[in-house]
Amino acid sequence: MTPDPHSAGFELPTPEGADQAKSLQLIEALVGKMRDGPLSFVDYMATVLYHPDWGYYGSGQVAFGVGGDFITAPERSRLFTDGLVYEWRQAIASGVAPAILEIGAGSGRLAIDLLDRLDAADMLPRSYTILEISPALAARQKANMREALPPAVVERVCWIDDWSTLAWSGGLVIANEVLDAMPVERFRWWPGSPETAERLAVGFDGQRFVWQGCPAPDSMRAAVEAIAARIERPIVAPREVVLAEYNPQLAPWFAQMRASLEAEGESWVYLFDYGSHTADVYRADRDQGTLKCHYRHLAHEDPFVYPGLQDITAWVDFQAVAEAAEAAGFELDGERSQAQWLLGTDVPQQVERQLQSRDSLVDQARLAQEFRELVMPTDMGERFRVMRLRLNRG
Ligand SMILES: C[S@@+](CC[C@H](N)C(=O)[O-])C[C@H]1O[C@@H](n2cnc3c(N)ncnc32)[C@H](O)[C@@H]1O
Repeated sequence: MTPDPHSAGFELPTPEGADQAKSLQLIEALVGKMRDGPLSFVDYMATVLYHPDWGYYGSGQVAFGVGGDFITAPERSRLFTDGLVYEWRQAIASGVAPAILEIGAGSGRLAIDLLDRLDAADMLPRSYTILEISPALAARQKANMREALPPAVVERVCWIDDWSTLAWSGGLVIANEVLDAMPVERFRWWPGSPETAERLAVGFDGQRFVWQGCPAPDSMRAAVEAIAARIERPIVAPREVVLAEYNPQLAPWFAQMRASLEAEGESWVYLFDYGSHTADVYRADRDQGTLKCHYRHLAHEDPFVYPGLQDITAWVDFQAVAEAAEAAGFELDGERSQAQWLLGTDVPQQVERQLQSRDSLVDQARLAQEFRELVMPTDMGERFRVMRLRLNRG
């Protein structure tokens, strides 16, 4: 099997030879896992994203930013980080301990900019912990940070790869675009009717990976029933069976987070991601579900293209996130669009001041453009949402 640049439905750029070889090794490993039958999509996605040698994140294949496959808010503009500086001030003023935990730090961009801003404002956290499951990305974050920040600041940063080693007594927790990078299950159903749900697993036909319909296991039935219960009624009456996804890791993830954050002090948790509420995520007219793949800034819907070389994500159902977090013991303290969030901080005033103080028209235009991209509904403003959770064990 060789990577087919046309299988996304249009021509994708062809990967370089070394990348193709890496992808082929991953394909062989996946085919090996299918010896006894099709692989669940959640296992397929976990392997292609997080395999330590050939996975997209696991092996560090991912390239962030303008020259990479996709761009996240902190990679796009420091104004996003400025919003978090505002939140940090609020948290400290409310007596939250001066510690930060960032989950899934990517290239380290957000950590570097945040520590740089807090250092300049003489408000450095006592500690900045990064929980990163990709060893290759943790190494990249360390290298980028050592290059960008003074040693006295880097000294406050530590890395962990699992919740059990977290030393925590309260503080600010941040996760940007982590939930959408978690492996999902895939199913097809008549929207709103859980009894019609069928699992979509991954098979291999000798040439390529193919979708294979299978009976839904009990865990999937329960998850789909919960989805149907959250949709009061479909916004559009279903005409046919459609594809959909859900994140089976939400409940265990929050339970683990809660157990690790339990401390004397208070924790404020900020989750940023793209997604919506249940009725919108599972709209009957989203007949292909919400799975999206990114390769060199080209978006498509075929997760079998270039295994290990492309990103795969799915929309976050924020109602499901709230339910899982509350069930684990967190208090839901607001959920809004990224635009509403940023406009409610002091970032708009900062932008205005900076626009007045910059002489160069090019600099002014660049800053205004960055701000627009973060808040405009047609860009990140409405598609991305922010949820704040609190955990107080004091
Ligand atoms: C889409 S990237 C976002 C990176 C960064 N937060 C940003 O906004 O640019 C997802 C990141 O989360 C990490 N990740 C995914 N699942 C994780 C988990 N369960 N725990 C910790 N990190 C995770 C990935 O390795 C990667 O660093």
